[in-house]
Amino acid sequence: MATPPRAINEMTHPSLIDLDVLIIGSGAAGLSLALRLTSETRVGVVAKRELEEGNTLYAQGGISAVLDARDSIDSHVQDTLTAGADLCDDDIVRLVVEHGPDNIRWLFEEGVEFTRTPATGDSGYHLTREGGHSHRRIVHAADATGQAVENTLVRQLGAQPNIRVFEHHIAIDLIDAEHRDGRRLQRRCHGAYLLNIANNQVITVSARCVVLATGGASKVYLYTSNPDVATGDGIAMAWRAGCRVANMEFIQFHPTCLFHPQAKSFLISEAVRGEGGKLLLPDGSRFMENFDPRAELAPRDIVARAIDHEMKRLGIECVYLDISHKPADEIERLFPTIHQRCLELGFDMRKQPLPVVPAAHYTCGGIKTDSHARTDLNGLYAIGETAYTGLHGANRMASNSLLECLVFSELALADIARELARKDAPDIEIAAWDESRVTDSDEEVVVSHNWEELRRFMWDYVGIVRSNKRLERARRRVNLLRHEIDEYYGNFRVSNDLLELRNLVEVADLIIASAQRRRESRGLHYNIDFPDRDDNQAAPTILIPDNYVPRRAED
Ligand code: FAD
Ligand code: SIN
Repeated sequence: MATPPRAINEMTHPSLIDLDVLIIGSGAAGLSLALRLTSETRVGVVAKRELEEGNTLYAQGGISAVLDARDSIDSHVQDTLTAGADLCDDDIVRLVVEHGPDNIRWLFEEGVEFTRTPATGDSGYHLTREGGHSHRRIVHAADATGQAVENTLVRQLGAQPNIRVFEHHIAIDLIDAEHRDGRRLQRRCHGAYLLNIANNQVITVSARCVVLATGGASKVYLYTSNPDVATGDGIAMAWRAGCRVANMEFIQFHPTCLFHPQAKSFLISEAVRGEGGKLLLPDGSRFMENFDPRAELAPRDIVARAIDHEMKRLGIECVYLDISHKPADEIERLFPTIHQRCLELGFDMRKQPLPVVPAAHYTCGGIKTDSHARTDLNGLYAIGETAYTGLHGANRMASNSLLECLVFSELALADIARELARKDAPDIEIAAWDESRVTDSDEEVVVSHNWEELRRFMWDYVGIVRSNKRLERARRRVNLLRHEIDEYYGNFRVSNDLLELRNLVEVADLIIASAQRRRESRGLHYNIDFPDRDDNQAAPTILIPDNYVPRRAED
């Protein structure tokens, strides 16, 4: 259950920063929203490291959208629903897919340079292919799409005087309060406490609207394609503040990360398979056709499970991904970043197969939101990977994530404008962060040890293949860790590592609880004790915190 909030001193805050919209997160979701708000809106954008750092920066394959007359909205919708194993929200899927082409045009107008040659779509862009897509519909900037998007949006942000940037600040918790609205109890978000990581000072930010754009939680696993910031902070903060979360059992493992001790799960894009790459066993034989007629282009859940199965069956450390049959110049042109990184690590993908393994990649579940990105808390929105919108169901289709970031930043706009125009929002006195009862930690080792332990048991017990017994083991361990971390949090001054660990434990708890609740196998959730799909359970897993207060329908 959620940790009780730290006691707050009721004195007036000495250095309150007041904004209209506070956006926590500076990836594709947070930045595209910041840039779309009007220039009169006082906006704050918070990032744990530099603005650029986050999952967006590392995105490789591209962004899916219907950009060719031979393709259709219906086809993109159908592929998404199929990949999602009948657990997507059909209306949300259609809404997102329909908004796709305009959002690509918006990125283009902001200055993102997508690869154009050889053009494969009417738009003039080169469209690549990835698992689950029945058409070429992925626009990309070679194999570094995320870098092109992120760097462009950061550049644009620099030109906006209404946007205040808080780099190297980590949001600790949301500021929320209850108020009476007629006879009903309502809750509202009023801002957030931020820790300045450089000087360890906590600042208080009040805002009419707060937007969580904090990305995913794959750092809860030992092996992941995600950078260090992906610790599920937004999901944990929203849960503690009384928001429902959904579908946390559906963690996507990307099938092909480079297997190399120094590569730290460097991704080998699915577009490599899209352009003809084959998966091989150590003896050079193909195996994907034994698992699915779509072979290497089956959705990710199927490919990752097949690799896991073969690795366990043969007792091997990795499988191989081979695109060396393609012309060398084509490989260099489409995959310059991957090719270069592999060369640095001693592999020439033009001439040899690459050793690959699956790693945790994407959090399909998250904070439950509606079609305006609103959460259960008035004034609080969630967009991007941290949100559960209903788009991905039980398995996200490749390149639908950046699309979701962009579309929901657009969909949130009208509601944020409505909130900012409201005259009836309650004013509360925001309390200062109270450090009067804590001291500096004398045992940082507790934090680093527990980080390691958590990520290892999540990998071993709540990974690609689960069982009731493994989930029960994970449940016992997470309960112990939670107890230890809560005690530590209550006694010592907060630090970046402690806050992230506290959030990771929260998220691990939510993943385990959701996995234990789903008594079937579907999409990314596979439990050997319930190996079959059960269509009586074709509904999202929604977890409700103790402090949940339903919103009024008219809000
Ligand atoms: P992010 O880009 O992860 O940004 C999160 C932000 O939140 C960061 O600024 C971080 O500092 C900040 N933050 C987090 N917690 C806090 C806190 N407590 N306080 C303050 N700030 C905080 N998707 C695709 O569609 N196509 C692809 O080709 C693709 N390739 C991928 C390749 C890799 C290697 C990875 C890891 C992911 C890929 N994905 C891809 C997924 C996609 O990149 C992400 O889902 C998407 O970028 C998420 O964007 P976001 O804005 O939600 O979060
Ligand atoms: C990749 O390039 O394989 C990643 C695409 C994605 O995660 O959507």
